[in-house]
Amino acid sequence: MSENLTVIAIDGPSASGKSSVSRMVAKALGYNYVDSGAMYRAVTWKVIEEGLDVTDTEQVLALIHRMKIHFEIVDGAARMFVGGVDPGNAVREPRVAEKVSIIAAIPEVRQLLVAQQRSLTKFGSLVMEGRDIGSVVFPDTPHKFYLDADPAVRAQRRTKDFQAMKISADTAGVAQALQQRDKLDSSRATSPLQIALGATVINNSHQTLEETVKTILDHIKQSGTRRGAMRVQ
Ligand code: DC
Repeated sequence: MSENLTVIAIDGPSASGKSSVSRMVAKALGYNYVDSGAMYRAVTWKVIEEGLDVTDTEQVLALIHRMKIHFEIVDGAARMFVGGVDPGNAVREPRVAEKVSIIAAIPEVRQLLVAQQRSLTKFGSLVMEGRDIGSVVFPDTPHKFYLDADPAVRAQRRTKDFQAMKISADTAGVAQALQQRDKLDSSRATSPLQIALGATVINNSHQTLEETVKTILDHIKQSGTRRGAMRVQ
């Protein structure tokens, strides 16, 4: 990574507030925001759109090898295009959410997307959210955060997200789905969800978004001062 580039890694389980917090941190710093989960979702969306079975690894691999991926920065956020198409909000649909952990556990899919994630520094400094950003994608960044929140709080947040997208959801069902996804994400063999070495853990169950963002910006400011490596306005 070039001397002048900064990557802020924000990892954590589903609905721990990573997306909103990462967007706000990126905006405050003037960096690009990258949602790495959306990339795993976009691949899953494409597999479903092609009518393939997500458990048929051979077919999934054949698809990813012929898939054309490119990125554009739109309003300070990286958007992944698959075969020239930005799947947009379709990647949030339950049909994708239900299957994405299976796709994200395939080592070749991870290898492909990790390479793409690293390549995004060509656009400049980044705030990237995910599960393995501090542990695998950018292990050398000094700015690593792990967000967490109590499972009941996370289920309530995700239910609200669905309601905002007019997708019907009940908190009990959402809680169960989140628990299942966390289990798959934490127990897979390749790059499981974990607290990266040196990460600052923030449990934001009782924090507002603004408080969590401030905690992160304060940390970055302090570590920048200590290292003399970067300044935060
Ligand atoms: O953050 P999310 O819910 O959009 O993530 C979707 C899925 O992708 C989830 O099952 C975890 C997985 N994921 C991953 O394995 N590695 C990442 N860096 C980001 C997401």
